[in-house]
Amino acid sequence: MLIAGNWKMYKRPSETADFCRALTAPDGVEVVVCPPFPSLHEAVPTGVTVFAQNVHWESEGAYTGEVSAEMLLDAGVQGSIVGHSERRQYFAETDETAWRRATHALEAGLRVIYCVGESEEEREAGETGDVLRRQLGVVEPRDGLVLAYEPVWAIGTGKTATPEIAEGAHALIKEVVGVPVLYGGSVKPENAEDLLSQPSVDGALVGGASLELESFNAICQTAARIRS
Ligand code: PGA
Repeated sequence: MLIAGNWKMYKRPSETADFCRALTAPDGVEVVVCPPFPSLHEAVPTGVTVFAQNVHWESEGAYTGEVSAEMLLDAGVQGSIVGHSERRQYFAETDETAWRRATHALEAGLRVIYCVGESEEEREAGETGDVLRRQLGVVEPRDGLVLAYEPVWAIGTGKTATPEIAEGAHALIKEVVGVPVLYGGSVKPENAEDLLSQPSVDGALVGGASLELESFNAICQTAARIRS
């Protein structure tokens, strides 16, 4: 079971090391933190597994504002989130650019958490399956690749997919790509048990609740209980 905390644009370098040292990784659970770029170097020496939140598809070049897989590896970072819905929504990420980022990162030796998920309108129109199949159309199973099902309507909204909705989407994703799938979207200590005990749910990508030690540690403990 993998529990990853997506810090988004929260936590400065000065807030990072103490927080990471206070995380507990119970047996059977891999705990990952995904800090913003300037905080990565504070997280790495604490010994927790550290992923970035985005990575470019070239090793280096004239790409102002971007960071490469080779740079992240050099900094001791082990992986990256790719294709998060906020990147797709605010920064023009597409299925093609997201998968380009992921393939280069995987080839360079990073692990990747690759995000997919439908919007509220798409779910209401009954298009969830089609949208997931389209997003997954570019994706191929690779070593080091994990997917995250993050229904956009459940991210940061407090609305969580029911365990049945999550299980249905995860089963579809696994049928198409055949790699482990994390659930993301308003995961909290109160709903973690129901979501993580679904057979096709292999862990969680946690946003808001990963910013507080108490809630993030509680979710990791729940994962360990379900595992054992
Ligand atoms: P949330 O975010 O847990 O705050 O909904 C999840 C994510 O965007 O990865």
